[in-house]
Formats: sequence, structure tokens, C-alpha cells
Amino acid sequence: MKIAVAGAGSWGTALASLLRGNGHDVILWDIDPVPVTQIEETGNNARYLPDIDLSPGLRATTDLAAAVAGAELIVLAVPSPVMRTVAEQINALLPTAAADVVLCSVTKGIEVDTLMTMHQVLEDVFPTSMYPRLTYLSGPSFAVEVAAGLPTAVTIAAKDLRYARIVQLAFHAPFFRPYLTEDVMGVEIGGCAKNVVAIAVGLANGMGFERNADAALITRGLSEITQLGVAKGANPLTFGGLSGVGDLILTCTSEKSRNYRVGYFLGQGLSLESIQRRLGQTAEGVVNAKAVHLLAQQVGVEMPLCNAVYRLLYEGLSPHKAVQELAARELRHELPDRFIPA
Ligand SMILES: NC(=O)c1ccc[n+]([C@@H]2O[C@H](COP(=O)([O-])OP(=O)(O)OC[C@H]3O[C@@H](n4cnc5c(N)ncnc54)[C@H](O)[C@@H]3O)[C@@H](O)[C@H]2O)c1
Repeated sequence: MKIAVAGAGSWGTALASLLRGNGHDVILWDIDPVPVTQIEETGNNARYLPDIDLSPGLRATTDLAAAVAGAELIVLAVPSPVMRTVAEQINALLPTAAADVVLCSVTKGIEVDTLMTMHQVLEDVFPTSMYPRLTYLSGPSFAVEVAAGLPTAVTIAAKDLRYARIVQLAFHAPFFRPYLTEDVMGVEIGGCAKNVVAIAVGLANGMGFERNADAALITRGLSEITQLGVAKGANPLTFGGLSGVGDLILTCTSEKSRNYRVGYFLGQGLSLESIQRRLGQTAEGVVNAKAVHLLAQQVGVEMPLCNAVYRLLYEGLSPHKAVQELAARELRHELPDRFIPA
């Protein structure tokens, strides 16, 4: 299969290497010539995946038209704030791709200005004839582990599973097991909102709280994410799956997670500016916290934990005040209102 992967960052490169290892003809595109030149010249992407040897024969280019020409599968692995721009460029080039080209977004996030998830952004950009061929890969997956060939399971969501199956087969490897689901919205809400909860767990650990707090935050965070997803039309069972609790566990329990680390340093008293300088890049959870906060307001879902993270990041709430406020909330039933017996 001829495959173009847009975005030669950590995730795009790891997936491109996996696909190449599966025997596909794979070309990575990036706007930035640094990783492209490095992959072409050395077969590595030292900036994003240091010490990893990528699959031999993986190609890279800064010419999007060359990457898309003849592609049967296009994987979108760019950051969520630029998804619309990159999708518009690809849409203009679509007549040069294979007639039955399938798209797969592996990006997690919500566009802050429009509060659209990535599938809504793609449906906004591409013609309706493409809608069945839009697919979304998500789940608990650190790029560095996938690039190293370590066992991983993910979910591929699509409204039409015929096309999701094509993507499932393309990605399937002995160490990489993709499942399928029709619940695109559920998969996307889980993939975005878990970053906000990871900041909360990191923050708690940075303040010296231990495993009891982690478990409470992950569980209550999952409850908030599920309520948000259900309000957006998702299947509640999705949040018990790989893109829900699976990704939440991964992101909240590992120092590999940038979002966890942002929270940890905040809990240690560092400012967001100094943390971002230290990490060298913006953790997505910081942007996701705003989007999730606004989306929850829009659909009328109460998300006290995510709201506290938003106020910590954007309104100067101190970690100690946040903990005090959460602890002082009115006592309530554990289940959402609609499940409480009358
Ligand atoms: N890194 C992971 O472990 C991982 C795992 C699962 C999902 N994801 C998701 O994949 C997406 C990408 O994450 P990542 O970690 O690979 O990001 P990254 O920052 O490592 O890489 C993003 C790449 O996109 C490129 N890019 C292409 N067009 C661009 C443009 N117009 N403007 C700016 N950059 C442009 C950048 O140059 C960069 O190489 C995110 O939504 C993330 O949540 C990441």
C-alpha cells in the first residue's frame, strides 16, 4: 500500500516506521526540513525519537504534493491547532491521490476557537463523499514504545467500519493490535480530556500526595470525561475501553507524559512559563484544558476537576486553594444524577 504520513514528530515517525516495517511504501511529510533531512540522510529522527533506528526504506519529504500523489492511505499526525490548515492543503491535493484514498487522523485534541473535535474539523474541510473514508486512531500509546516495537493496543474509530478495517490491517503488527469502533466522538473526547486529568494527577504528586489521590483523581476524572462524552452523543462503554480508561491510565501514571510532568512541576510551585521553558514545548493538556472547560460549559456538564485545572492554568488559582475547594464541595452520590434511584 502507498502511504503518506503528515507530521514527522514523535507519533507520525513512530507510526510511519511501523507501517514501513509492515512492508508498505511509506513517505513522511513535514513542514520542518530538520527531521526530514535527518530521516533521509541517517534513517533516524534524533530530535523526536533519539536512539531509535527507524525501519529501513522509510522516506521523508517537505513536498506535500509529492507525498500525497498516488497515496492510498494518508495518516494525519500534526498537532491539533494546525490540523485544519494541513487538512485544507491535503484536500486541494486529493485529486492526485488514489481514487479510493482513506484518511486516518492520529491527532488528539479539540480546536479551541470552534470547539470542534478533529473529526468535526475534517468533516468541515473535506467533501461529504470523503466522510466514510475518515478514520481516527487513538488509545494508550507512547510513540517511543511503538517505535521500539513494544506491545501496544489501540482503537480505530470510523462511522463506516469498512474503511476502518483497511486501516486496521495496514497497522496490524505482531506488537501492535488495533481494535475497531463506530464511536468516533467517544474515542476523540477520551483522547483529549485525559490530558487534563493527567495534569491533575501530576499536580497531586508534585504536592506530595500519593497513590490514594492518584486513584481518586483518575476515577473521578473518568467520570467527568464520560459525562462530557455522553453529552456529546458518545457511547458510555467507550470510556471503559482503550481510548478511555486505557489512555487515562497511561497518561496519568507515567513520567513519560508531558502533561503529567506539567502538573508535577506546578505542584512543586513552578510557574507555567518556567515549566514550558524547561520542557521545551507546550504540553497539549494546557490547550486541552481550555477546550474541555469551554466544551463542558457549552453542553452544560459539571466537571469540577477539569475546571480546577483550567483555573490553575488560566486564572491563577493556587494548587492549595484548588485542593481546598475540591475537598469542600458539597457531598454527593457517586453516580451521575440520572443513575441515582429515585
Ligand atoms: N507523541 C506521542 O507519544 C503520541 C501518542 C499518541 C498520540 N499522539 C498525538 O499525535 C499528535 C502529534 O503529536 P506528536 O507528539 O507527534 O507531536 P510533535 O510535536 O512531536 O510533532 C508534530 C509535528 O507536526 C509537524 N507539523 C506539520 N505541519 C505543521 C504545521 N503547519 N505547523 C506546525 N507543525 C507542523 C511539526 O513540524 C512536528 O514535526 C498529537 O495530537 C498527539 O496527541 C502523540
